Amino acid sequence: MKLTETPAWQALNAHAATFSRRHLRDLFAADDGRFTRFSRSFDGLLLDFSKQRIDAETHRLLLDLAAAADVAGWRWKMLAGEIINHTEGRAVRHVALRAGDAAPPEVRAVLAQMAACCDRVHSGGWRGYSDERISDVVNIGIGGSDLGPRMAARALAAAQQPDLRVHFVSNVDAADIAPLLARLNPRTTLFIIASKTFTTQETLINARTARAWLLAAAGSEEAVARHFIAISTAREQTRQFGIADANVFEFWDWVGGRFSLWSAIGLSLALAVGWSRFTELLAGARAMDEHFATAPAADNLPLTLALLSLWNTDFLGAPTAAVLPYSQSLELLPSYLQQLEMESNGKQTDRAGESLAIPTNPVVWGAAGSNGQHSFYQLLHQGGRLIPCDFIALSDSDFPLPGHHRPLLANCLAQSAALAFGQTAEELRAAGVSESLLPYKLFPGNQPSSTLLLPRLDAYSLGQLLALYEHKTFCLGVLWHINSFDQWGVELGKTLAGRIERLLAGEYNNDNGKAFDASTQGLLSALGKKI
Ligand code: F6P
Repeated sequence: MKLTETPAWQALNAHAATFSRRHLRDLFAADDGRFTRFSRSFDGLLLDFSKQRIDAETHRLLLDLAAAADVAGWRWKMLAGEIINHTEGRAVRHVALRAGDAAPPEVRAVLAQMAACCDRVHSGGWRGYSDERISDVVNIGIGGSDLGPRMAARALAAAQQPDLRVHFVSNVDAADIAPLLARLNPRTTLFIIASKTFTTQETLINARTARAWLLAAAGSEEAVARHFIAISTAREQTRQFGIADANVFEFWDWVGGRFSLWSAIGLSLALAVGWSRFTELLAGARAMDEHFATAPAADNLPLTLALLSLWNTDFLGAPTAAVLPYSQSLELLPSYLQQLEMESNGKQTDRAGESLAIPTNPVVWGAAGSNGQHSFYQLLHQGGRLIPCDFIALSDSDFPLPGHHRPLLANCLAQSAALAFGQTAEELRAAGVSESLLPYKLFPGNQPSSTLLLPRLDAYSLGQLLALYEHKTFCLGVLWHINSFDQWGVELGKTLAGRIERLLAGEYNNDNGKAFDASTQGLLSALGKKI
């Protein structure tokens, strides 16, 4: 049966038809206990979803949908290691990476290898070709082999290791790597080539540039062993690149790229913040895994976020969702969540191979508050579009300079209240606003949001936060009947880019190029003269 024809979906449809116009002002006025009813705590985290456009009936019907979709059964299948990524024939076991003592032996072996590497680099025992200690680490990777460690290293900047700088290069554009190399010393730089497949074009081009840069200074291939580490599932390819097996950190095809921060892909992060912090990150994620696996549906934080997202997308009609961390340290979280959610659930084909024909993952975007208030919040308040928001705030600052944190938190709470309740004509008149300006000062409100309050931003709470969004993504895939763990949608562009590159290189002529449309051919000939 098509998802939209199921009784649970139909019941939500009927409910939405009568409910969707209700205003948050009225919902709050009607229920004194709304905050208590629609907020949940777990292990120091508080999720307030009382400013979402739901009532008790909506919540009940959403939970019915979760039961009908068998979220609990799919969760069990994932945790049991079943091949739930059916289009690639793979299990989905990123939870096993942070299972602590219960982790599989191969996981524990790689964690031990990572810990030893951190110890060698931090203690100065890892020496470059000129016998100097490492001062800079460069992670070369893209997508899941970049966004996780880059975001987390930025998030935990307050815990940065002294005397070691960690950099991230991802874009094939030389403008990414060239200025960085110009600042670095080849004698004291260690490169981590992070690529699950070790076939990703951007990463391999950057890795070759880095190797040529090193060899130009070192003069001998032997330097590669002291300056290059690979993180990959593809041992043959890492050998071909010339990286010694001892410097290869393994991971497995059952770890999806966008879920791989907890694997050896996290090595750059562990080097940036220290091994003990990396283990705290794993512990925070493990606590969320346990919650996700055991908490009843109505109290389950990841499932709650997923159900709210589905309600906003499919029943209220919101095409985008904003992530607004009131934490400069979390400024890269929106980019990380873009890959996690949009690459996982930005799909229209269900598990049976049928077209879903309903909106699935919203466009995820956002920026750190309070900066966003001075750019795009105008549209959130008065642009006439429904844009659900996730506010994320910290009770305590990670950089406790006097005078900063209180205004930051005040802005966060003010924005979610302003978005929800707006400002009416009566309120404006009572405040003495002239009739001519009144239409411009109206705030319609009714913009839904959730607020997630973390006690602080440390490795443990970051682990909780990221695992929360990972499991939310998983739940949404189950609810939409999607396989969240493949990404066929990235392939066509890669194939076409290969053909276009050969055309630009003059490897075949325009006749072959006629397979391309007139626009592409026009652009090719304009560019071909210059490249
Ligand atoms: O092209 C998309 C993608 O496959 C992502 O899913 C992945 O995270 C990224 O490329 C990098 O892949 P790899 O780690 O194999 O280089």
